Amino acid sequence: MTKLTLDDLKNNKKVRVYLEKADAHLAGIGYTEHGLRHANIIGTRSQNILLRLNYKDGDARLAAIAGFLHDIGNVVGRINHGQAGAILAQPILTEIGMDIEDIVLVMSAIANHEEEAGDPTNIISASLIIADKSDVHRSRVRNPSLISAALILDNKMDPLSAPCGSAIGFYDIHDRVNYAATESELKVDPLEKSIVLELTIDTKISDVMEYFEIFLSRMIICRKAAKFLGCDFHLVINNVRLS
Ligand SMILES: [Fe+2]
Ligand SMILES: [Fe+2]
Repeated sequence: MTKLTLDDLKNNKKVRVYLEKADAHLAGIGYTEHGLRHANIIGTRSQNILLRLNYKDGDARLAAIAGFLHDIGNVVGRINHGQAGAILAQPILTEIGMDIEDIVLVMSAIANHEEEAGDPTNIISASLIIADKSDVHRSRVRNPSLISAALILDNKMDPLSAPCGSAIGFYDIHDRVNYAATESELKVDPLEKSIVLELTIDTKISDVMEYFEIFLSRMIICRKAAKFLGCDFHLVINNVRLS
């Protein structure tokens, strides 16, 4: 079992370049933030989910590594970036001395983290899926016009000083839903065997139905992943339990 840690990857130049360039590609096509911030959060969260549920430290370390690397495949394109990321991760993990048994587990988790083309089939991929799909927050939005539109709505910006086209209705639904999420918290309860995603959504920016429109498939894979960890998955939005 690997003794490598998240810090070994954070200090690896190749990994940093892959993450930066993958995020630059997504910025170029107008996607939310998928860079170092997202990698750090998902790496740490994947690890913590397994530790909270009393899995072994070695498994939690593998989940952290898979979580940190999971989106590097975006460097070659958004479509099938899970599979691409798995293939790109393999030589890096070999180079830094990870055992092949651990490498294939990390590869499988990375390749299966997206709901369109993935399934949780081990505890590493299950924790990564839940960590990734629960990173919904306004800090990931980088569309300046949407941000200024939201500030105008809150009377925190003079409309005359806003960039051209600052109207919330015009923007991508993913940006709107992420920007509307002012708080998000994942609660893992080992005694109740439950994993709960609690969100606070500003309904002036996006209503709860919009959240379901784009996140229903993500919630379904989260439920499958939680089952793999012996838990139920629940979603709470604005203090109302929805699943
Ligand atoms: Fe992804
Ligand atoms: Fe991700």
